[in-house]
Amino acid sequence: MSFDVEAFRAEFSFFQQHPDWVYLDSAATMHKPDAVIKAEVEFYQQHNSNVHRGAHQLSQQATQLFEQARDTVALALNVRRREEIIWTSGATEALNLLACGLMGTVLKPGDRILLTCLEHHANIVPWQFYCQQHGVLIDVVPLTNELELDIAAFQQLLELKPKVVAMAEVSNVLGTISPVAQLVQLAKAAGAITVIDGAQGIVWQRPDMQALDADFYVFSGHKLYGPTGIGVLYGRYELLNNLKPLRYGGEMIKTVSFTGTTLNQLPYKLEAGTPNIAGAIGLAAAVSWLNNFDSAALTAHKQQLFTELYLGCQAIKGLQLLSPQQNNVGILALNIKGEHPTDVAALLNEQKIAVRAGTHCAMPLFQALQLPGAVRLSLAAYNNSHDIKRTLKALEQTVELLQ
Ligand code: ALA
Repeated sequence: MSFDVEAFRAEFSFFQQHPDWVYLDSAATMHKPDAVIKAEVEFYQQHNSNVHRGAHQLSQQATQLFEQARDTVALALNVRRREEIIWTSGATEALNLLACGLMGTVLKPGDRILLTCLEHHANIVPWQFYCQQHGVLIDVVPLTNELELDIAAFQQLLELKPKVVAMAEVSNVLGTISPVAQLVQLAKAAGAITVIDGAQGIVWQRPDMQALDADFYVFSGHKLYGPTGIGVLYGRYELLNNLKPLRYGGEMIKTVSFTGTTLNQLPYKLEAGTPNIAGAIGLAAAVSWLNNFDSAALTAHKQQLFTELYLGCQAIKGLQLLSPQQNNVGILALNIKGEHPTDVAALLNEQKIAVRAGTHCAMPLFQALQLPGAVRLSLAAYNNSHDIKRTLKALEQTVELLQ
């Protein structure tokens, strides 16, 4: 299987215009191919109008494009019904919607939910906030010494009968892939509703919702070559229908009077206000564009680069690698012994190597690791071998300079 990385890179104006940058921060946000940018610009230039509201043809066109975008995502994720795709501003809003929406409906005082030690703050803080308000308890699955989820502990914690189990498919810090298909089955057998944070997982492997069988799955468009400000909450129809909305306003209602309001049907009842129309169209463009490439070849290319990066870093004395090499989507968290990650990232930045440093919105994970933070190098299919060579050289120089 061959993958022409240079042809792939040529799809991104950014890399044409900034050949000097090595971009290793794709776990934070990916670059967008021209196809996505064009779809957004075209919407504003040719069709701009609000959806579901106007009496005019432009609004009808906008509505059609917007709802076609929903169909594209619904098809890509193999959901049962198109109404199971709810547009949100991103994974964070989707998780807020779930934490708010399940509280008082599914979750009652004294109930428990189960999270994992690997979670991004977006899959911790909303739960914490609403759980505290409603007297719901949170348990946390720890990690093994190999930095994998402790499945035995997971099973033990299921004996406490959590009503909801919410977990990341892929750690945004370590890049490790959790066995979510297996964990979903275990959680379901214990009677829990399952929530998967697919923010990092979606770009690694496009999930099939019917095969995965999770009750909810969330992701952000901008980590799948799409625009910022758009994301998806997938949910099983009946469960979605019982969620308490996070936001109230126009579009999500059927009738309003000062004596009461009746809500619209799905998906609209969870999409109050004017949605990110261009964002939805851009995300659908990203999904369609990705369909032009062999996903197995893309993954193989990324894995090859990751191996090159990992082995290269292992050979640099003074580097401490946190991420395991195996079972990894292409994210390497590391430190230089005794140095602050921010200083390391600043020196890499001077060489035009873009990485993220700090606790990566995952402070509880760093508390478990007993580390103040890490430098994170995250790959995407548009990276090439030249990027890896420059990074290794820059890391070598950084270690020399600092030590
Ligand atoms: N969630 C993004 C990251 O991990 C921002 O960097």
